[in-house]
Amino acid sequence: MNLIIGASSGLGKSLAADFSKLDKTLLVSRRKIKVKSKNIKSIQLDIVTGNITKIFSKIQKKTISNIIFTVGLTDWNNDNIEISPKKARLILDTNFYSILKLVYKLIEKKKLKDDCLICFCSSVTTILPRHRQIMYCAAKSALNSFSKSINFFIKINKLKYRVANIILGYMETDMNKSIQTPLSKINPKIVSKYIFLNRDKLEGQIFFPKYWIFFKILINLIPEKILILIFNLFFFNKKYF
Ligand SMILES: NC(=O)c1ccc[n+]([C@@H]2O[C@H](COP(=O)([O-])OP(=O)(O)OC[C@H]3O[C@@H](n4cnc5c(N)ncnc54)[C@H](OP(=O)(O)O)[C@@H]3O)[C@@H](O)[C@H]2O)c1
Repeated sequence: MNLIIGASSGLGKSLAADFSKLDKTLLVSRRKIKVKSKNIKSIQLDIVTGNITKIFSKIQKKTISNIIFTVGLTDWNNDNIEISPKKARLILDTNFYSILKLVYKLIEKKKLKDDCLICFCSSVTTILPRHRQIMYCAAKSALNSFSKSINFFIKINKLKYRVANIILGYMETDMNKSIQTPLSKINPKIVSKYIFLNRDKLEGQIFFPKYWIFFKILINLIPEKILILIFNLFFFNKKYF
């Protein structure tokens, strides 16, 4: 059985279509999802405020071959440094803490098959020096860190699960409709195909598209003063990145 957490839109929706060709897949989302394939089941559940035992009652005695967390929430439109504690908590819970809780529960209840893929969706915003989306960047950075910690935990406990953290560039989804970027936005179907076709070997920290590795290296190498100069010359007052 496969599990997609956050499957009502964007990347999760594309993944649901791909995995429906394979075998039983359970979709989890805040909104109700109408499913056509007999391979697919869905539950409407808010993984931050809802009761996650609902997921376990649907899994029953089955075990999971692939679990993909496409759940995410951003504060794209927030240009202010200030953010309410309630909103900050929600962004942190959605992008990080609810994921951590569910992964621990699945491991504790032995619901993951040997060689199960645990796949997270992080963001290239975690490598950019930014003044927008502070909580989203912080939450995704926590997710990056968690993906390394849980991988280490799995290895030292001689478990056989694989952890992949896809550090995604900008996609054409509802999440970032309003954001401008000088780079092209990726179609989520391309990302979904990549995850689906490579599900048996995916592991580690993966940039998608790969060219973001060069941005990471450049950002680490360029002195701060030059970075600020570049930013002011090309990007200031634009809602880039
Ligand atoms: N779009 C981008 O450019 C981009 C770039 C880098 C990384 N990412 C990351 O990639 C992943 C997929 O992005 P996307 O653009 O496909 O996102 P999306 O279209 O906004 O979809 C997010 C999904 O998460 C679900 N969700 C949010 N909060 C939830 C909650 N509390 N409980 C249950 N489900 C919840 C949403 O369900 P409902 O709609 O029903 O609430 C939706 O199905 C996200 O983790 C995102 O942060 C996206």
